[in-house]
Amino acid sequence: MRSKAVTKMVEVRGLKKHFIAERGLFFGSKKWILAVDGVDFHIEKGEIFGLVGESGCGKSTVGKLILGLWKPTAGRIYSDGQDIADMDGGELRKLRRRMSIVYQHPYSSFNPRMLVRDIVGRPLVTFGIAKGREKDELVAKALKEVGLNPEHMFRYPHEFSGGQQQRIAVARVLALNPDFVVLDEPTSALDMSVQAHILNLLSHLHQKYNFSYLFISHDLNVIEHMSDRIGVMYVGKLLEVATKEELYKNPLHPYTRFLLDAVLVPNPRRRRKHEILKGEVPSPINPPPGCRFHPRCPYATDICRKEFPELLDIGGKHQVACHLVSRK
Ligand SMILES: Nc1ncnc2c1ncn2[C@@H]1O[C@H](COP(=O)(O)OP(=O)(O)O)[C@@H](O)[C@H]1O
Ligand SMILES: [Mg+2]
Repeated sequence: MRSKAVTKMVEVRGLKKHFIAERGLFFGSKKWILAVDGVDFHIEKGEIFGLVGESGCGKSTVGKLILGLWKPTAGRIYSDGQDIADMDGGELRKLRRRMSIVYQHPYSSFNPRMLVRDIVGRPLVTFGIAKGREKDELVAKALKEVGLNPEHMFRYPHEFSGGQQQRIAVARVLALNPDFVVLDEPTSALDMSVQAHILNLLSHLHQKYNFSYLFISHDLNVIEHMSDRIGVMYVGKLLEVATKEELYKNPLHPYTRFLLDAVLVPNPRRRRKHEILKGEVPSPINPPPGCRFHPRCPYATDICRKEFPELLDIGGKHQVACHLVSRK
């Protein structure tokens, strides 16, 4: 049920996605990849929530779960206050129309034999929004909105640069008039100069249409540029959530502090002095017990090796999962 009182666009509670790791590697025994392993957060209406973390920590999996593209192993996902597990076919269809995704490599989500007209227009037909001339008009409008020429609809996707292909992907989303969009590393495959143009376009569209975004990136600079609030992910868990201002002013988790030090100190000699992070990102196949970060944390104590710290609210919209902080 959609109600005016609901201010949360999306909320996830205890969200988990475990995959079975391929056999063979482990001599026949079944091993689980804990890609997402108990994640709680919400995204306000009109908010840009940035999800940041190193490659493989589970960011894209969270995005796909929220969009209902994958079924969670456990946990709840609420869209506009309604549990998506309770939705019937019709409601799920509506959800698919209202929620959309832009991927890092748009080309792989295009049928290379389709004209741009059909790539952008097909969802309009699928969802019964428009067809024929009316559809073409909406496609032309969406192309204009993303800075492309409506004439481009008569070309094939390979005729465009990476940045233009990403614009086509954004136009396809825009044409559906969604209210929530997952942007999964939308600029990570682009040159720096092109990146800025696409980020500006996404900001502009957000302001104009008041979309909610889940903005996924491994790049803290991009996350800072785009987000209202930020969640820091590490091996399937959220370690810290705060508003952008709070996170940059007062990062509390040692992992967040490391990430910020690494970007904020461009001088490599100083950076080494600041470096607190040793070792590799642990594998989600066999994550360490206790706090996922403890093997690399210079402050780890016994409890960190045994118990995973809960993500606790410390006030001011700031949450952190760290025994050092919660014991203070
Ligand atoms: N379909 C899948 N089958 C098995 N393992 C997967 C699948 N998708 C992702 N994974 C694994 O789950 C973990 C998290 O992946 P992902 O969500 O893509 O991380 P990120 O987007 O942060 O780089 C990784 O270890 C990845 O290899
Ligand atoms: Mg990813």
